[in-house]
Amino acid sequence: MISIPKNIQELVSYKPGKPVSQIIEELGLSEWAVLWNNENNLGPSSNVLERIQEVGGNFHTYPDPASTQLRSMIAEQNNCHIDNVVVDNGSESVFDCMFRAFFEKNDKLLTCDGTFVAVYIWAKSNKVPVARIPLARGYQFDIDRLIYSITPQTKAIYVANPNNPTGAMISNEQLSQLIDNVPDHVLIIVDEAYYEYAKVISDDYPDSFQLRRPNVITLRTFSKAYGIAGIRVGYALGEARLIEALSKVKMTFAPSNLAQAAGIGALEDQAHIHKSVMLNKTALQQFYTAMHDAELEYTPSYGNFVMVDFKEEELAKTVTEKMMKQGIFIRHLKAFGLPHCVRISTGTEAENALFVSKLQGK
Ligand SMILES: Cc1ncc(COP(=O)(O)O)c(C=O)c1O
Repeated sequence: MISIPKNIQELVSYKPGKPVSQIIEELGLSEWAVLWNNENNLGPSSNVLERIQEVGGNFHTYPDPASTQLRSMIAEQNNCHIDNVVVDNGSESVFDCMFRAFFEKNDKLLTCDGTFVAVYIWAKSNKVPVARIPLARGYQFDIDRLIYSITPQTKAIYVANPNNPTGAMISNEQLSQLIDNVPDHVLIIVDEAYYEYAKVISDDYPDSFQLRRPNVITLRTFSKAYGIAGIRVGYALGEARLIEALSKVKMTFAPSNLAQAAGIGALEDQAHIHKSVMLNKTALQQFYTAMHDAELEYTPSYGNFVMVDFKEEELAKTVTEKMMKQGIFIRHLKAFGLPHCVRISTGTEAENALFVSKLQGK
């Protein structure tokens, strides 16, 4: 019998729920809002579809392994050299590459509880132990404690800014405090999956790449504001030396030519991004007002979602189920280690209005 390593045996298999279309049919819903995955429900710019169609005749050829055009555009947008950019099948894939590129035996990853679950999964599947500290008050990353918890085994620190699922932000001052107090040999991974949303919500939101530190890697994605989660494109920004190491370990032909074209099309239409992030900003205010009126305890968010703390697991679960029966698909955060909380993504104008009306008991 083939033995399966212990770290893989201990991972819990992903159990997909029923497809939304099936639930809608089974419940006989006439209206619904899919607000459980932090996607951009406006979808991508029409430009993305045009660019993909242009690839149409070329499905038999391998893609450019260096994603040259897409990386050049990202470099231009971020005022850096193409060598400071690596592109892959979503930022989750770039994150997975970090383990092969940088970690050696006995190295550890340091992060907090209650952050993006994939972080714990990819670390475990790469046999990298994770040191986890509790979140601070307000579901914030505890910067002081992160600094204090560094040991000789700490190879990297992971923070998500803003954090998923809590929505909390690390400010300019807090990020500088972290970076200034972490030794140069410790890598700081700043996951900015919701960067485009956060930038327009707060003037105090730091762009970690622009600090230009040799031990900081910034992760970004096309899955959120750019609306192409299903196509899988994400990237990392950082010092050329680190980016080269990541490029060496990524799959040669990732991402696909379709994904590269989609990323290019998405970047070309900045008006669509503006529309998406402004819709989100308005939606967050609508959600806060409705949540305040319903006497719910929420965490102000810098992403495209809001976390509500129900204090009890049973209540959080019941609310999620009740909402689903009314066509509102939201996320119970048990798998994120926050079983008493629920996360609601923003959606289209119509979806946001539907969610608010259901919250008001209409
Ligand atoms: C903090 C964070 N990082 C990364 C991702 C995944 O990004 P990608 O789709 O580019 O792999 C998500 C998706 O939910 C996220 O919340």
